[in-house]
Order: sequence, then structure tokens, then C-alpha cells
Amino acid sequence: MVTLEYLVQYAKQTGFIFQGSEIYGGLANTWDYGPLGSNLKKNIKEAWLKKFVKQAPNVVALDSSILLNPMVWQASGHLSGFSDPLIENKTSNQRYRADKLILAHDPTQKPDGWTEDEMYDYIMKHQIKDPVSKTSDWLPIRKFNMMFKTFQGVVEETANEVYLRPETAQGIFINFKNIQRSTRLKVPFGVGQIGKSFRNEITPGNFIFRTREFEQMELEFFCKPGTELEWFDYWINYMMKFLKDLGINPELLRAEPHAKEALSHYSNATTDIEFKYPWGFDELWGIASRTDFDLTQHQNLSKEDLTYLDPETNERYIPYVIEPSVGVERLLLIFLLNGLEEEKLESGDTRQLLKIHPALAPYKAAILPLVRKEHSQKAKEIQALLAEHFDVVYDETQNIGKRYRRQDAIGTPFCITVDHQTMIDQTVTIRHRDSMEQTRIAIDSLEDFIRKSIKF
Ligand code: GAP
Repeated sequence: MVTLEYLVQYAKQTGFIFQGSEIYGGLANTWDYGPLGSNLKKNIKEAWLKKFVKQAPNVVALDSSILLNPMVWQASGHLSGFSDPLIENKTSNQRYRADKLILAHDPTQKPDGWTEDEMYDYIMKHQIKDPVSKTSDWLPIRKFNMMFKTFQGVVEETANEVYLRPETAQGIFINFKNIQRSTRLKVPFGVGQIGKSFRNEITPGNFIFRTREFEQMELEFFCKPGTELEWFDYWINYMMKFLKDLGINPELLRAEPHAKEALSHYSNATTDIEFKYPWGFDELWGIASRTDFDLTQHQNLSKEDLTYLDPETNERYIPYVIEPSVGVERLLLIFLLNGLEEEKLESGDTRQLLKIHPALAPYKAAILPLVRKEHSQKAKEIQALLAEHFDVVYDETQNIGKRYRRQDAIGTPFCITVDHQTMIDQTVTIRHRDSMEQTRIAIDSLEDFIRKSIKF
């Protein structure tokens, strides 16, 4: 696997990811997605929508607001409890997440379920040092709420305080009744949503792994109490299949169940699907069985009846929820890490290659005239034809070998070359990215050929 430094450099050079606000010296831990990155993000979201909404059993979509009534965050527990343990070094004034300091000191520890006092005691007992000041001169740990606060309207006073959502999930819970009523869906059913979330993380970093602004893809799957653990297993398998079908090496994945004593008070099962990043296994995708906690909280605070009447048994209950939740950027990061390599060729040369599933590739095909003067018009006609259906790119600069290499490096699965033969019989050469094999195909068959290749 390439290093993170290599990836950052590659992502900038090729146009996947640029540092945010770069011409002004940047804004820490913000990233902009360039022509390739925005296409890849779009394709990841489309793949998720296809599998987790369109083709999933009984799932519909939602697009709820980023700004919600602050009572939502009171009910969900985010106002009181959505905090990380912050520890500050007196000498350097640097701030850290206490649990991350402990893990950096000893990765076998599991500080997730520890109290602040337990973490502090551990740090002092083991004399964990601040990497900057090299001292163990620590202030007591305090809770740091990660929600971004802002004001709605023209007056900046407490009554107008609102928060940027730290997860998209609550938008689903508060619309449960609306969705169930309008769709007449019967439990079990799910609601999927993609959208931006914001968290004032204490220690963002590792490129796009942990940022303060990111995009989540969340599914809330409502089911009958008592059936939730079956659905929990169902969705873990579904998530794993999704990753493997899209080409992620299974050896880089593992499912890590949270220990019973580390579970949140409302959860009866939680698992992280982890990926082996350059710094080791770390979280990719979380799945939690959240019981009826969220709907009950919203019912209590809003005084709205959020129960469901089972038409078969005539029972009334608050459904239980299974929630698979993933960040778009984390998926983007792993598809790049999983696919990017320097391949040694038989000729002794190396080529930069991004092996990414055609469904995700930023461009499905590159259209290349072999000789610009003679073939560019035909090539542009083919580009226009395919652009009706797919993201494609046209390239007429430099020799054909260099053009192939450029497309290999950005993951374009097919290069379509227009040559002398094309002008005679309306066929083109297709060069396959991974095998570098070349085959001939009629222009009329191109659309169908590409469509089949992007299916998963
Ligand atoms: N509604 C549940 C929830 O938000 P979470 O484990 O806090 O759960 C779910 O977040 C997923 O969102 C994570 O597994 C990760 O993929 C992504 N995520 C969370 N915080 C992130 C951050 N600061 N930067 C990028 N992605 C993040």
C-alpha cells in the first residue's frame, strides 16, 4: 500500500483532492475535491444509494435540513453528551483527545468506555508525554462538546442559537412519522440519507480521515423489537458485501464488535468495520443497534406520538433501529488506498495504476485520436455520444503511450482509440486498464459494453 504522504501528493497532482483555501495559506484540515475527486464522491454516493436505498429491502430516501430545532439535540443527547475527553498540556498549551493519547501509547488498551478520571489516572500513571513539550504536565480532562454553534437570524443571542448537525440521523428520526404516514411502509423499513455533517473535532487529521466537515451516508432501519439482532447481522453482511463487490481487498477489512461494557447505554450491539490504513486498522463504517432510544426521546420531548401500529398483530410499539453509518470521504480514502499502486511491468518500467471498480472510476472511458489531424473529429463525435450516458474524457495531447499512462494513473478503465481503421469500418480499439489488453469493438457497441462493465 502507498504511504499517506504519497497519496496526498498524488491526489493533488491528479486533481482528486486539494488543500482547502490553499491560495490563502490554507485552512487547517479542510479539503476541496477537484474534477476527479468530485466525480469519485458522486460515484460512491450513487453506489451507496443503489445498494442501500434502491435495491435494499423496503428502504426510501430523505433529504433533511442541516439546521434543526435545538430541541432535537436536547432529545438526542448531543447537547449534554456529544463530547470528547479533552486534555491540555500546561507547558505547550497543546490539546489532545485523551483516549487517542492512550491508544498512541498502547494500542491494546480500550479507553472507549472509560471515565475521564480513569483516563487521567492512566495517563499520569504511565507518564504519557506530550509529543510537543515532552512533559507529562497535564491539566485535568474536561468534556469538549463537538457541535458547531451558530446563530439564526440577525440577533446573536442565546434564543437564536442553532447547531450545524453533527450527524444526519436525527433528521430521519424526527421525520419518522411523516415518512411512515406518507409512504404507508410497514415495519421493517428503512430510511437512507446522504448529507453534510459537522464536528469540531479536537484532533482532526490523517488527510481526509477525520475532518470537521464531512459527508455521511446513514441508514436508519426500523424493525420490530426482538428482531433487531437478526437485522444487525443482515446489515453487517450487506456492508461487507458492498465493500468486497466494489473491489476492496478482504484482507484489509475486519469487523470489530464493541465490548458489552463499552456500549452506549442505548445500544445492545455495535460493531465497527475497520480498514487497514497506512497507520493500522481504524474505523471505516459503524453499525449500531440503537433500540428504541431515539424515537422514545423525541416522543417524550416533542409530545408527538411516535408509536407504530402493527397492522397484522394490532400491537402498538416504538420500533427498534439498526443504523449503518459511514463517511463518504472515508470510503473515498479507502478506494484510493486499496487501488493505487506502482506496478512493475515486464519491460522493466513501472506504471502508476489506480485499480478501482469501473462503477467508481471518475471517468469510465478516455477517447483518444491516434493522429490528431486525422482522427480528432471522429473521436469528438464518440465523446459526445458517450457523454450522454457516462463521464468520459477526451485527450489528444502527447503520444498515445503517455496518454494511456495518464488514464491508468487516474483509474480510467477503458481507453478508446480512434485510428485509421475506424474511418473504414466504424470500429475502435479498446485498451483495458488492468491487463493493458487491446480489443476491437464497433462504435455502436460501446455504450452497451461500458454499461455492462460498471454493473455491480
Ligand atoms: N449516527 C451515528 C454516527 O454518526 P459515528 O460513528 O459518529 O456515528 C459514523 O459516525 C461514520 O461517520 C463513521 O464511521 C465515519 O465513517 C464517519 N465520520 C464520523 N466522524 C467523522 C469525521 N470527523 N471525519 C470524517 N468522517 C467521519
